Amino acid sequence: MKIKSAEFVMSNSDVAKCPKNRIPEYAFIGRSNVGKSSLINMLTDRKSLAKTSGRPGKTQLINHFIINDNWYLVDLPGYGYARVSKTSKKKFQKFITNYFEQRQQLVSAFVLVDIRHKPQTIDLEFMQYLGENGIPFGIIFTKADKLKPNAIDNHVEDYCKELLKTWEEVPPYFITSSSKKIGQDDVLDFIETTNEEIEALKNE
Ligand code: GTP
Ligand code: MG
Repeated sequence: MKIKSAEFVMSNSDVAKCPKNRIPEYAFIGRSNVGKSSLINMLTDRKSLAKTSGRPGKTQLINHFIINDNWYLVDLPGYGYARVSKTSKKKFQKFITNYFEQRQQLVSAFVLVDIRHKPQTIDLEFMQYLGENGIPFGIIFTKADKLKPNAIDNHVEDYCKELLKTWEEVPPYFITSSSKKIGQDDVLDFIETTNEEIEALKNE
């Protein structure tokens, strides 16, 4: 897919205030600092569409971006950031779970995981949560530039093995690096194909 336009639409913490257009939406979620906002910039070929930071906890709201005037990309705050207070963590959890449970336009989530790490409970639990709520998801391995190619293969294989302990099949997954621009076509082609399938269903 070619990115012809990518524009910020709005930020908020209330799913009821999210854009009303009924166009397909894809949300990026994962631990703080895993590289969600950087990935969004890489995918859209924009340097600073989404705000990034070396310090975890940068993204605090639900951020909608409209791509090619026909689908939304959503940047979300990260989970698992220890330094926020318990109250703000609870509030966060609530508006994020409200988003996932109520957002009808949501077609698929992407759970981002740092390719260097072994499967983490918090990520596996979040995938479990998505599964229980019937929300389709893919996995995006980030920061692939930090590993050599054979280490990438090993890490991905181990991750898939872990998933197969609880899932019947491995979800779609993508290997990416925002700094080296790896995986852009894979993710965008997946979104494009999914959008086409939705369009075809509408015309049936
Ligand atoms: P929160 O908004 O705090 O939840 O973080 P985030 O997941 O949006 O992460 P963000 O994109 O802000 O990136 C966090 C840090 O990781 C920044 O210092 C980025 O430069 C770095 N980073 C992101 N993607 C990559 C990557 O592909 N490779 C490398 N080497 N660093 C990356
Ligand atoms: Mg962010």
